[in-house]
Amino acid sequence: MSSSHKIAVLAGDGSAPEFMAAALKVLERLAKKFSLSFQFHEALVGGAAYDKYRHPLPPETLKVTDACEAILFGSVGRDDLPQGLVEKQGLLAIRKHYGFFANLRPATVYAPLASASSLKDERLKDEAGNSGFEILTVRELTGGIYFGSKQKMEDSGGTEASDLMHYTRPEIERILKVGFEVARKRKKLLHSVDKANVLESSKLWRSTANEMAKSYPDVALKHLYVDNAAMQIATWPRQFDVIVTENLFGDILSDLSAAITGSLGLLPSASINERGFGMYEPSGGTAPDLAGLGIVNPIAQIRSAAMMLNYSFKLEDAAQALENAVQKALERGARTIDLAGSKEIYEKSRSPIANKDRSAVLKILKDYGILSSEQMADKIIEEI
Ligand code: IPM
Ligand code: MN
Repeated sequence: MSSSHKIAVLAGDGSAPEFMAAALKVLERLAKKFSLSFQFHEALVGGAAYDKYRHPLPPETLKVTDACEAILFGSVGRDDLPQGLVEKQGLLAIRKHYGFFANLRPATVYAPLASASSLKDERLKDEAGNSGFEILTVRELTGGIYFGSKQKMEDSGGTEASDLMHYTRPEIERILKVGFEVARKRKKLLHSVDKANVLESSKLWRSTANEMAKSYPDVALKHLYVDNAAMQIATWPRQFDVIVTENLFGDILSDLSAAITGSLGLLPSASINERGFGMYEPSGGTAPDLAGLGIVNPIAQIRSAAMMLNYSFKLEDAAQALENAVQKALERGARTIDLAGSKEIYEKSRSPIANKDRSAVLKILKDYGILSSEQMADKIIEEI
């Protein structure tokens, strides 16, 4: 059986081209194993696009993404350009352009990495003593305060500004529907997070959720205020399975749930629109300090590719094989620097990293058995 899939590859800035290269290498191997064919169509985004086209999301790039079946995205961000420029006109713009309203962020705690978690062991373990689990945040991605009307009050002399958190009922319904549907396929438990004790948009959110719950009698719906949700995630994360929430709350809570997994370098995401077209990106940022060294954990990008196989191409077996390979590599002790969990390594590598002395950094990592991005990819490939 053979099928060919067109993938737009938008690597972006900082370390992203390096972890993207690692992910593409893994995808090539997977394609061989499963007799698939992937066509990678690269295009520029973020600062990289700005340098060439004076825009972080130029029409040249949209032409490529329009012609593909899915977008594999790296990360954007550039300190030397005006703050937020590439994030707003690159990342937020592509989310809005395609209407990627549903953002799925699985924070997976891998048992062999439990020691890297910000939480004590006892907080991670279930009754049987297993410490592996996952919290899936379903974040609304194209509405709320990110896209509500913004104002800098001109007559205030720069001392007044506002951002509007605005939602319509249909916007709330379509994201809650995603939450209920995925909860139904998992543990049938859905936590809806809002701030209904203060915000009107949250009151609308909560009443809509209660209304919809009638159509999902098999799913247990629980409501939490966002401040309490943050505290609960940071203390007893195992009570959660699927969390559905609005854009800004989801941004914050998904980073928090990533922290309990031990590293932001593990967190993939899928952003899907109403047509089922999707963009897949790690949630960890561009890691500019490490750019050029080739040492950033590629797992978030690799797992984003697994989500792409799953959601965009319905290649569930290949996606599962990739997830299993990541898990096995971690079980066998494969570690990138973010997972090293050793102060000594951080201390020793700090100055060569600051000096971008690649060979010195790689030597230190090698002495401690820590892998580069490419070596991590190779370890995962061995397990496919
Ligand atoms: C994320 C990021 C973005 C967001 C930034 C870069 C605009 O933090 O994907 O979580 O806030 O959505
Ligand atoms: Mn974020």
